[in-house]
Amino acid sequence: MTAKIVIVGSFNMDLTAYMERMPRPGETVNGRKFVTGPGGKGSNQAVAAARLGADVTFIGRVGHDTFGDQAVSTWQREHISTRYVVRDPDHATGVAPIFVDDTGENSIVVVLGANLNLQAADIDAAADVIAGADVLVVQLEINYDMVAYALKVAKQKGIRTILNPAPAGHLPAEVVALADFITPNETELEVLAGKTGLAVEEAVRSLLTTAEQTVIVTMGAQGARYVRRDSSELIPTFKVEVVDTTGAGDAFNGGLAVALAEGKDLRSAIAFANATAALCVTRPGTAPSMPARVEVDRLLAAQR
Ligand code: RIB
Repeated sequence: MTAKIVIVGSFNMDLTAYMERMPRPGETVNGRKFVTGPGGKGSNQAVAAARLGADVTFIGRVGHDTFGDQAVSTWQREHISTRYVVRDPDHATGVAPIFVDDTGENSIVVVLGANLNLQAADIDAAADVIAGADVLVVQLEINYDMVAYALKVAKQKGIRTILNPAPAGHLPAEVVALADFITPNETELEVLAGKTGLAVEEAVRSLLTTAEQTVIVTMGAQGARYVRRDSSELIPTFKVEVVDTTGAGDAFNGGLAVALAEGKDLRSAIAFANATAALCVTRPGTAPSMPARVEVDRLLAAQR
């Protein structure tokens, strides 16, 4: 059965400069290449899930501008439903100037624009699609009230949720408590837990409020560690040639959503998400670097 995924999230036009090394404050460096392309954590996750074979609906806002047009044509090309995308009359489409150095590391500024104007009515309009979804995914590039609202609506309807707390931000404990899966990287975990210097497991345990919740901490080249009240395990990732790490977290979340929706067990779902992210970092860009299902299946099969 086809996995049904709803993403409540952001679109940004990525404006990416590739360079040998990042400029220091006050310094100008020469870039090697400049590329514009579709991005935004929510949209990247939607593209990842769609390329993995899921039926994906995107709920979000873009402006009445060229970047907004490009967002819509990206989703149409990727067979993502745009029925609940609102063209905001007053705010510009989000943009993200990005620096990527020769090691593949990135620095990103987001100017979220229309993403921050998502309204409860936009989510309510999609109530039926949410009720029929296998998994709903939300990130932190929309206003936090809407993060809470999307999780609440999904919970009322008994739909499984993934909260990807990226970019790093602090959410009230009662909002975190609404999510079934929480997927921070190590920095995001620290900010979400509101405490520095804790070991990963300790920080995670301060977030877990129910025995059903799972936190999955993405740890770059090491893989991802899941922590539940009664268990914890690092699921290693795949060794690949890194070109551009931008979007790796989004690939992971898109992959995780599809795997969970397809009924995979937790360890296999994380391995599937790891494979999706590993393939993503071998290519430049964000949405354009999301792999096809056949590539992920091939990488997983090669490991067996
Ligand atoms: O996670 C990568 C994404 O973060 C980029 O596409 C950029 O738009 C920012 O949202």
